Amino acid sequence: MDDPNHAVQRKAVAPVAGPRNLASLEPQIRERVIGILDSLPVGETFNWVDKVSIELTTQMLATLFDFPFEDRYKLTRWSDIATSPRKAGLWDTIEERQQELNECLEYMTRLRDERAKNPGGLDLLTMLAHNEDTKNMSPVQFLGNLLLLIIGGNDTTRNSISGGVLAMNRFPEEFEKVKADRSKIPNAVAEIIRWQTPLAFMRRTTTRDVEINGTVIPKGERVLMWYASGNRDEAVFENADVLNVDRANARQHLSFGFGVHRCMGNRVAELQLRVLWEEMLQRYSQIEVVGAPIRAISNFVRGYTHLPVKLHV
Ligand code: HEM
Repeated sequence: MDDPNHAVQRKAVAPVAGPRNLASLEPQIRERVIGILDSLPVGETFNWVDKVSIELTTQMLATLFDFPFEDRYKLTRWSDIATSPRKAGLWDTIEERQQELNECLEYMTRLRDERAKNPGGLDLLTMLAHNEDTKNMSPVQFLGNLLLLIIGGNDTTRNSISGGVLAMNRFPEEFEKVKADRSKIPNAVAEIIRWQTPLAFMRRTTTRDVEINGTVIPKGERVLMWYASGNRDEAVFENADVLNVDRANARQHLSFGFGVHRCMGNRVAELQLRVLWEEMLQRYSQIEVVGAPIRAISNFVRGYTHLPVKLHV
């Protein structure tokens, strides 16, 4: 969506990732991280993706929407339905997919209509219900916004959590460095997000002719912006394939996009990853990947469905 419509809709929900909300989110995130880590088996192999990455991001998303906690896996399901390609195990026909997305719309419309009667909440549905520019959205627009927020907060953070564990195993000396000096965690988080690049690209349509490196892209052309490639650009990132928690320009990565659509939840994602690594490093001497990861079937989401891990205290 282009401005001006995009800007008003973004403004309606942006406070969820603003400083006031972030400050109140941190203790909640920490409590949930601790709850999840304390439930993990030590010395036994388990799937990190299910037990930690999905669980944590789902809990987080339920908090941002103030979504009934016992139903929180619906959020994961809707996100997976929306992003997975046909016949990848989740849906076979367009009708099946639409039916599940309609369930999402109905459920969320009911919650939003309840919230419309109670102003003051800092959750996304209350914000959408009370903002002059978003309270009367058409069902299609409302569903579009919901899916953006659900997917935005789900697959991406999930795969930075799994990707971080994998990266620290591929580059164990980096793990040792952060373990020895926890003040490196924030930069390590940025570097993990660069290294993993949870979304490979976004698409745009050119509004005018443009020349890049001697190639003219005409107006009206559909283009992909390959973040995955930009994040491995050797002209910007030395030894770009290597995870380096001390990388001085790690924060220049493109994983959150660039420009007016730049990720709205980047601070929420970074907060979640920082708290997770702080708590993990307090507990474990090693988070050992003990088998090959299984990649998600997607050319868009760069992530994992399976990451066998064994914890050592
Ligand atoms: C590591 C985690 C994350 C990554 C890698 C990521 C990545 C991205 C990317 C690449 C875009 C598109 C930028 C563009 O088109 O220029 C985006 C947009 C967006 N993200 Fe994230 N995201 C993450 C976490 C989150 C979280 C936790 C939320 C929810 C709170 C979120 C909400 C959004 C929204 C609403 C947009 C649309 C912004 C707009 O169009 O103005 N993201 N994100």
